[in-house]
Amino acid sequence: MENKIKDAGTAKLEIDGKVTELPIYAGSVGPNGIDVRALYKHTGHFTFDPGYTSTCSTESQITYIDGGKGTLLYRGYPIEQLAENSTFLETAYLLMNGELPDKQQSEAFVDTITNHTMIHEQVERFFHGFRRDAHPMAMMCGTIGALSAFYHDSSDPQNNEQRDMAMHRLIAKLPTIAARAYKYSIGQPFVYPDNSLSYSANFLKMCFAVPAEPYEVNPVIADAMDKIFILHADHEQNASTSTVRLAGSSGANPYACIAAGIACLWGPSHGGANEACLNMLKEIGTVDRIPEYIARAKDKKDPFRLMGFGHRVYKNYDPRARVMQKTTHAVLAELGIKDSAVLDIAMELEKIALNDPYFVEKKLYPNVDFYSGIVLSALGFPTSMFTVLFALARTVGWISQWNEMLEDKTQRIGRPRQIYTGATQRDYVPVSKR
Ligand code: SDX
Repeated sequence: MENKIKDAGTAKLEIDGKVTELPIYAGSVGPNGIDVRALYKHTGHFTFDPGYTSTCSTESQITYIDGGKGTLLYRGYPIEQLAENSTFLETAYLLMNGELPDKQQSEAFVDTITNHTMIHEQVERFFHGFRRDAHPMAMMCGTIGALSAFYHDSSDPQNNEQRDMAMHRLIAKLPTIAARAYKYSIGQPFVYPDNSLSYSANFLKMCFAVPAEPYEVNPVIADAMDKIFILHADHEQNASTSTVRLAGSSGANPYACIAAGIACLWGPSHGGANEACLNMLKEIGTVDRIPEYIARAKDKKDPFRLMGFGHRVYKNYDPRARVMQKTTHAVLAELGIKDSAVLDIAMELEKIALNDPYFVEKKLYPNVDFYSGIVLSALGFPTSMFTVLFALARTVGWISQWNEMLEDKTQRIGRPRQIYTGATQRDYVPVSKR
């Protein structure tokens, strides 16, 4: 990556009468950043920013979010346009390479991915070590990390060819592994990839085909699956992407880094919110119980939060939620699902919350996870698979960000500091004197 940060003046910091000047940098769009890398050296002070609410961890040219306007750009292209016009593999190419592929590049990329979808036969057997009731995300964490034990020829992050091979293998094999996590959890036989199908159609077939009967992928459903993958592909320096970058900054192999990202994504505050949101909508059960849950979400003493609502960056409607809502209606119509109780509750909950002063003042809007559970459930996935699908799609963003970090020669190992408030030095006391 060519560094393109521009000088934008200096900030003056005065501590005990001593003024320290700190460079200010600008990007192509978005807030400027103050370079504090020399702060400790010049002032003996750290910055303090738990949760990184005002901290840039890196320069990046992949994804831009304007939280105030509710815009999301992948390499400059609005998410709405990509969801409408592109495919997940074309979007993957764009995120990895920075430009949309021409016809020849697109065909070559799709061909490479299609011909790497099978996994090593011993990985197939790897699943049989899990209990049948293992959460599919537990199987994903374990299996993706274990790829480091199989693909030694693509584990060295400092070798460009090995890095490329690892990125293609991960994009190609995630659907196969995700489908196996599902099949294993329901006790059905694994279905091998079918190279005659598109990426998303192949994934649906590996999930829902059974040997006993023919299986035809519904093109409307395959298209919806592809759109959902596009919406989840990348999202700037979110928690799981930052985890992948931090793991990658130590030189860890790509499979271990992606496994770390999957582990972080699993949390209900992050990628686990889609599973938590659908469970919440089912728990609410009927529209007349919505006020009870709204009151709980507003009650500081109650840890309950509206799952699928709020976002660290979006203080406006998450643009992905709008596309997801449209896709939900299209899928329910295609499947002939007229009355979806959870959809009715979600629509009513959204309407009430968006007019409630608490949510309006705190700028809490539906995020990508609010509708995704409803459409994924309609597609036939159990809630335990929702975050697996998120991880499948986000692998493209994770490897793009990981690769960008490795190409950025200014990057160093990530090593935050702290404000220490523990015990100061003291001498050991023998147990006889305690
Ligand atoms: C994803 O970072 C990304 O980009 C993530 C993601 C991606 O693509 O990678 O977009 C995917 O993770 C989407 C978010 C999914 N999570 C949820 O839907 C879980 C519910 N949402 C919240 O837990 C929360 O909104 C977060 C975790 C998403 C954001 O938390 P922040 O930025 O730390 O905000 P906060 O907790 O400081 O909340 C600010 C205020 C607080 O009230 P006060 O302390 O100011 O009085 O808003 C309140 C919160 O109590 N609040 C909520 C709320 N979310 C925030 N109150 C009720 N319900 C909620 N959902």
